[in-house]
Amino acid sequence: MRIGILTSGGDCPGLNAAIRGVARAAYQTLDAEIIGIRAGYRGLIDGDYQIMERGQFSGILTLGGTILGTSRTPFRNMRVVEEDNVDKVYAMKMNYKAMKLDCLVALGGNGTHKTANLLSEEGLNVIGLPKTIDNDIFGTDFTFGFHTAVDIATDVIDRIHTTAASHSRCMVIEIMGNKAGWLTLYAGMAGGADVILLPEIPYDIERVAKVLDERAKLGKFFTIIAVAEGAISQEEAAMKKKEREAARTEREFYNVSQHIAAQLEQLTNVECRTVIPGHMQRGGSPCAYDRVLSTQFGVHAAKLIKDGQFGVTVALVGNQITQNRLADIAGVPKPVDPDSQIVKAARNISISFGD
Ligand code: F6P
Repeated sequence: MRIGILTSGGDCPGLNAAIRGVARAAYQTLDAEIIGIRAGYRGLIDGDYQIMERGQFSGILTLGGTILGTSRTPFRNMRVVEEDNVDKVYAMKMNYKAMKLDCLVALGGNGTHKTANLLSEEGLNVIGLPKTIDNDIFGTDFTFGFHTAVDIATDVIDRIHTTAASHSRCMVIEIMGNKAGWLTLYAGMAGGADVILLPEIPYDIERVAKVLDERAKLGKFFTIIAVAEGAISQEEAAMKKKEREAARTEREFYNVSQHIAAQLEQLTNVECRTVIPGHMQRGGSPCAYDRVLSTQFGVHAAKLIKDGQFGVTVALVGNQITQNRLADIAGVPKPVDPDSQIVKAARNISISFGD
């Protein structure tokens, strides 16, 4: 049984733990040979791969990043023949054959899953593993990498609290997550943020300013705002995507945190500062939760291979490891539900969503 593995999209804590889980379970339960494909789908297109030794999967449980390397090969261009004149889908199918693969395990986020589904529709045996700090893959309660990023972003908020309180400032912390607010919601709640701004709940800056004023009346002269990088105001929400982008490029600060801080300084008498932890949120060793989840996901992928069940991606549903059909989840968004229990819980402890 020849199993190809690749990691695609942004790197993420837990990728190596998941690779190790697939490999160890595959060696134990199947007569497996594992082919490591370099730098995501790019390696599959270019035929850049190596036959892995068992030892290469040792000592990587706690290692951040990915031993296979990764790249972003946008799904929207997969069927487009670009300047290099390469038919990418054809090349991937040919290399799959040349490697004599029985299946391909693709670890990645939304884009990775869309391409995994495309390859599955093209007749390849594909299994997905849901990784992303954004937690925005449909059909799984959690993706691996998410909890590590929550811990990192929470630590940032914890540390910022001291400066905010000592200087009586409003600190605006911009948290990753792409178009989804999961990471900001969880880190904001865990870090005791006073305001949480999410893409799913467009904010009104006047209301956010009111929070600062009301806190001051209560003798609380500092405010912590956790803002998702994809957060949008109510005016932006009413615009078309292109219009919104144009408006953003025209304003003084493109980044949402800086834009909000500048607006709040005008609307209140409070000094504001911004913090953008950026890629730190994706770096370093996975937390214990992610090590366990990644391992479980990897082991389940090996079981699916053994059972000959392809065209699926592994998922966590209600604390059970299971799988979904790629066709059912690829390209389906998973936003935070503004009416969910967790958002209601946050509102019940007076966290403002700026709406
Ligand atoms: O999808 C993970 C993520 O870190 C997002 O949260 C963020 O918007 C994006 O990737 C950043 O991508 P890049 O590393 O390509 O700048």
